Amino acid sequence: MFKICIAGCGDIALKQHGPAIHKYISETENTAFAACCDIDPARARAFAERFGVPRFYVNLDEMLDIERPDAVSLCVPVELTADLACRVLSKGFPLITEKPPGINAEENHRMAKAAEQGPNGRVPNFAAFNRRHMPVVQKAMELIEGFGGAGRITNIRYRMLRVNRTDVNFATTAIHGIDLVRYIASSPYGELNIAYRAMPQYGASVTDYHINGTTENGIAVGMDFLPMSGVNTERLEINTTRGLLELRLPIWAGCRDGAGWLTHYENDGEAYVWRGEEGTADYIAAGFYHENALSFNAVRNGEGNGDEILRNSIASGLQAVEIADCLTKRKTTYQR
Ligand SMILES: NC(=O)c1ccc[n+]([C@@H]2O[C@H](COP(=O)([O-])OP(=O)(O)OC[C@H]3O[C@@H](n4cnc5c(N)ncnc54)[C@H](O)[C@@H]3O)[C@@H](O)[C@H]2O)c1
Repeated sequence: MFKICIAGCGDIALKQHGPAIHKYISETENTAFAACCDIDPARARAFAERFGVPRFYVNLDEMLDIERPDAVSLCVPVELTADLACRVLSKGFPLITEKPPGINAEENHRMAKAAEQGPNGRVPNFAAFNRRHMPVVQKAMELIEGFGGAGRITNIRYRMLRVNRTDVNFATTAIHGIDLVRYIASSPYGELNIAYRAMPQYGASVTDYHINGTTENGIAVGMDFLPMSGVNTERLEINTTRGLLELRLPIWAGCRDGAGWLTHYENDGEAYVWRGEEGTADYIAAGFYHENALSFNAVRNGEGNGDEILRNSIASGLQAVEIADCLTKRKTTYQR
């Protein structure tokens, strides 16, 4: 039996990872959603009841020692992720952890090192950047591959717009866009310039971020993060030598971009249009189901250290973590 456990039974676990894991175990033989854990017993119990999980715990170590899971999903507050991820990895349990994979480079390195030094060698580990696994993004990657690969991309523009986000640190959300553009470019960033526009009228920390620069494979990139913009959307324009790809991401249930939109324009006409099927559950459209299934399948098939998982490892998120940390510290340049 392949046993999956989850630690942290809050918002993202209830809305996204719980349904994703539940779907995965329902359609996969010899697989169990074995246990969940939260320091708040009411949350752990409610999660267990909602997803038919047979046992719940209030202590992570106890759950790990008793259950001996084959994979652990970690959905705890950002400031606890690194410490708890290291606990799971140092005991040798494969891990899929919510973003960000560290709030700075030190945390990312610490988790990656814990994975390298597992009791029986390298422990499979996976940074859950759900946007990479959205069907609309995978469709774009497929089209780009058909054009001849990332070398055909000339320019990527990404905009994250939000309503009334007065977060103390919006960088831990902005990291989604930073990671996604790097993922689509299939290349690390080279040099970036970062501009800030503080908006103290909305709150001491409310700030727009504007990032411009290039990737090491020569793509011009631009990213805007606007926490007080009047609408919740994330959209991309990817210019290629074969025309423009316009993407609208399905960021959550009921968002205005439905289950995802993709339009390929060539010679001023629509060459191809893809729309996510209306009514698709958001844990599927937003990539949570696919990231969970990918990581569990890799572990159960003994490919937990294969190329696909290495491409999605905690270490793969290092540069996005470094740049998000630049935003936190209001640095105006980033150089690899
Ligand atoms: N991918 C996305 O779009 C997305 C969106 C929101 C949040 N997130 C990420 O998900 C993670 C959790 O966010 P959330 O919104 O669910 O937060 P939350 O506060 O709603 O839930 C976190 C849960 O972890 C529990 N917890 C705290 N310490 C624990 C411990 N030692 N052991 C077990 N449980 C513990 C808390 O009691 C709480 O129930 C964060 O890393 C956040 O960045 C990702």
